[in-house]
Amino acid sequence: MENDVEKWLRSAGEGFLKDIGIRRDQFVLDFGCGYGYYTIPAARVVGERGKVYALDKDRVALTELLRRANSYGIKNIVPIEASGKLDIGLDNESVDAILLYDVLHYMSSKERSKIYSEAYRILRKDGFLSIYPKHNRTDEPLWDLSNMDLNDIIEEVEREKFHLDKKFFKELLHYNHLNKGYILNFKKNAAEVSLRGVKWI
Ligand SMILES: C[S@@+](CC[C@H](N)C(=O)[O-])C[C@H]1O[C@@H](n2cnc3c(N)ncnc32)[C@H](O)[C@@H]1O
Repeated sequence: MENDVEKWLRSAGEGFLKDIGIRRDQFVLDFGCGYGYYTIPAARVVGERGKVYALDKDRVALTELLRRANSYGIKNIVPIEASGKLDIGLDNESVDAILLYDVLHYMSSKERSKIYSEAYRILRKDGFLSIYPKHNRTDEPLWDLSNMDLNDIIEEVEREKFHLDKKFFKELLHYNHLNKGYILNFKKNAAEVSLRGVKWI
């Protein structure tokens, strides 16, 4: 019988990613991609003219992700082996969407602040940052997220020039089984225009 991972990778994952806003031809960063349970369906949704950057500090996970992607004939995944530092080696305003799925609990509040600012830098103007804040206080609390609930997380991200655009409660894959969880999508605030020095006539 098909297990949850196979079911997700065969079809459910693509439906999920389309629902949260991933579209054909987009460039997507999957930060902390692990074994690629979101990377692989995202690569299918964006298609051959799109691209998914799969970033992780775990080389074993990246290798397994690429092996699986190859076995499906998927060629539009670009692996990025990270040092664990939070500088993302991508250009300013170069991606349409960033997935931060089941990864925030690894980071201190200072590190999270850094990742939001990097996300702001590399997202295009109309891009979005999508967060699956697993392991917050209301959902199997763990490590650095165990004292925060969804509203705390929303407030934290909104302090970093983003605003909450959409909130979903959806079936998704956590670890290797289907589960239900919240997804928070944030958009960039419009750049603040300084009026200092403007002469009013
Ligand atoms: C629980 S897994 C989630 C994997 C995937 N996003 C998913 O939802 O299936 C978290 C991943 O984030 C990675 N990670 C954590 N902190 C990281 C960092 N600072 N830089 C890169 N990867 C990181 C870990 O190596 C791990 O593979």
